[in-house]
Amino acid sequence: MSDTRIIHGNSLELFSTLNSRSVDLIISDPPYNLGKDYGNNHDLKGFAEYLDFSRMWLSQAHRVLKPTGSIYVFMGVRFISYLYDIMDRDLGMFFNSWICWHYTQGIGKKIGFSPRHDDVLLFNKSQKFTFNLDAVRVPQKYYRARNNMRGANPGDVWKFSHVHYCNENRQDHPTQKPEGLMERMVLASSNEGDLVIDPYAGSGTTLRVCQQLNRNCVGFELNPDYVKMTKERLSKPFRGFDSIDERMERVPFDLRDKSIREDYLKNHTKWFLERHNGSIERFQQAVKELYGDTPNLGDSQASEPSLFDRVRPDTSQRQGLRPSEKTDISRSNERLPV
Ligand SMILES: C[S@@+](CC[C@H](N)C(=O)[O-])C[C@H]1O[C@@H](n2cnc3c(N)ncnc32)[C@H](O)[C@@H]1O
Repeated sequence: MSDTRIIHGNSLELFSTLNSRSVDLIISDPPYNLGKDYGNNHDLKGFAEYLDFSRMWLSQAHRVLKPTGSIYVFMGVRFISYLYDIMDRDLGMFFNSWICWHYTQGIGKKIGFSPRHDDVLLFNKSQKFTFNLDAVRVPQKYYRARNNMRGANPGDVWKFSHVHYCNENRQDHPTQKPEGLMERMVLASSNEGDLVIDPYAGSGTTLRVCQQLNRNCVGFELNPDYVKMTKERLSKPFRGFDSIDERMERVPFDLRDKSIREDYLKNHTKWFLERHNGSIERFQQAVKELYGDTPNLGDSQASEPSLFDRVRPDTSQRQGLRPSEKTDISRSNERLPV
């Protein structure tokens, strides 16, 4: 069970309520300084002012991270190299990965190439950090005795579509991120019960993902309407994350041996399709098209509603918290239990 709360306020002030070396993971999707309208705050500062703002919040992020901690920072092309430099040279953090989020739809340019990616920097506070590769592997393309059929490293180009306006999970927020992105970050770089911070929570994507993956999470957000939106999102029944890397649904070729195939397919659903509404049905269909049979997927059968209809119980019942630390997400601006 997780303890998730969203706090209304300015990240620069709220960071100071966190103890040093107390946070396992930070997922930060700050305003990119592109002039987006976030309701009560306009995302346009002067160049030097934006760099000062970035330096301030990144220093705070560095202070609160545990030595084993990691930070993911979303950023557009104009400022990403400056943020890299702050984390690398000013703060002495350790570069891990430059992730390219490739999305399939977006604005079309008439002159020049239409943008189809955003970037995310992953830095670690030290060289000894949490990284759970098994939790984020993707299925192999071919069944081979020599392949690790538990899956391959997903690499640093991540393809996820934006959350479509017709998706039931779509929020009224201009830069809502797909849950599949945050799911991979949280699974790779934290463990159950860890503390995750999202200093620019927006519509609450990181909080929602942490809630379902048993991580504790605190989000900061300047716009009270988005705080309300996040609270509502966190109280809704869970029907699966809103996005998935399409490689998760691919059926390996060369699984012609029926007994090997049956064994593998049961594991596939457990390893790669958990918490993704609709994926098991699509996967079953793909197996049928490739091998002509409908697999018995064991405990993870598509017809079982329990996978997707889970609603998280009252977060205040989380075990292991002292009574004074129990969470009520409607509370705000209190000292955090870290
Ligand atoms: C890029 S959006 C985050 C989107 C989020 N990842 C999601 O999936 O919905 C950035 C958010 O930061 C908020 N924001 C801007 N400046 C802030 C500040 N100084 N402190 C806290 N939040 C801020 C904006 O209101 C906006 O909702």
